[in-house]
Amino acid sequence: MSTQAQNPDSNQQGNRLDPWFNAYAERAHNLRASEIRALFSVVSRPEVVSLAGGMPNLKDLPLDQLAESAKRLISAHGAQAMQYGSGQGWEVLRERITEVMSYDGIVGADPDDVVITTGSQQALDLMTELFIDPGDVILCEAPSYVGALGVFRARQADIAHVPMDDKGIIPAELERVIREVRASGRTIKMLYTIPNFHNPMGVTLSLERRPQITEICMREGVLIMEDNPYGLLGFHSDPMPALKSFSPEGVVYLGSFSKMFAPGFRIGWAYAPHAIRDKLVLASESAILSPSMIGQMAIADYLSSYDWYSQVKTFRAMYAERCQAMMDALEEFMPDCEWTHPDGGFYTWVTLPEGLDAKSMLPRAVRAQVAYVSGTAFYYNGEGADHMRLSFCYPTPERIREGVRRLATVVNAEKELVDMFGAGFHRRNIDDVGPGVAPAPNAL
Ligand SMILES: Cc1ncc(COP(=O)(O)O)c(C=O)c1O
Repeated sequence: MSTQAQNPDSNQQGNRLDPWFNAYAERAHNLRASEIRALFSVVSRPEVVSLAGGMPNLKDLPLDQLAESAKRLISAHGAQAMQYGSGQGWEVLRERITEVMSYDGIVGADPDDVVITTGSQQALDLMTELFIDPGDVILCEAPSYVGALGVFRARQADIAHVPMDDKGIIPAELERVIREVRASGRTIKMLYTIPNFHNPMGVTLSLERRPQITEICMREGVLIMEDNPYGLLGFHSDPMPALKSFSPEGVVYLGSFSKMFAPGFRIGWAYAPHAIRDKLVLASESAILSPSMIGQMAIADYLSSYDWYSQVKTFRAMYAERCQAMMDALEEFMPDCEWTHPDGGFYTWVTLPEGLDAKSMLPRAVRAQVAYVSGTAFYYNGEGADHMRLSFCYPTPERIREGVRRLATVVNAEKELVDMFGAGFHRRNIDDVGPGVAPAPNAL
């Protein structure tokens, strides 16, 4: 036992709280708590209006029917439901998933090319494991989903962000970033994109740009990983055709039941070109042997015995109402900010007045009993401090209005300071917060 790693007592250099610090693989040091998870304990206090998390609102779920379904499944198929299943996932559910994908313009999908995963998060991880050697580049929208950035970092990928506007990723910018990354001698392995109701920006890739993005990637030999958990949750229209429908061989499509149904069963999927599908199955078997059988059976039963698309429409109406409440409140209380106008999904992306820093302002917001996620969580390189992501999915419309009102008091107080002392000035001591930012006595 000669190395520091093997002898915890001799470890002088590592983290003082963890005697095994030097024993970890290099990639383990890339694991970070997401800025969202770090907030969880504070924002789940009832007095705080959380505009931070992206938890689906399950108040309208048909729980009685789900209880009936679970009972029926266990009575009739208990032994199968409790057993290991196929590594690729249960064939019956894979069939059903091809029907779900037809709403995204993916027609005639082959169930044999579907791989069931433990949420789409596992599919993100498997894809990264399969394609990324340390230092390989993944192109991501700027900003991008914090959970994907965490996986990419953990798997030692390098990220190159591609600018977006209110129509999604900008084709000319995609071409420019591909050129620049290659000129720097690095290898691009894929484009990771969330075309519908983007997390965190709330925008949707326009119909016009969809074939342009797939054409550029095909021409440049860049695989697309299309992540679509919110696609069915458009407020006013049915989904636009998936990128996968433009380029079946060039796109791995990731789907999820977490937002269109519920995350509790942790079921998602990847729909991949055949050769990639083979590798995904092997990688998934090596990670988890097989996805939860009972979860798959429960979802298959929900899809076949319940009018699930009507349920999706109920969710859409509920989220649309909440989104409208947030748009109205932003208009009323935060006229100095700009924000995106989502047509679906859970989020809006707010641009703060010049000089304000969302990350350093957050303790003051939590003190005023409202929470958001700083824009910095959604960039690989620490950019984004002039933005914040607000979620409208969970609180009631009244709480959303109150949350935005509280937030406005913090933003206005911060703006006054910046106007007085100049940009770059950030108070860090939350004890300095004055009564002007405290919630109203009768606050919700
Ligand atoms: C864009 C995006 N992708 C993937 C996921 C992971 O979803 P799940 O693993 O629940 O399917 C989320 C969750 O919030 C998300 O917002």
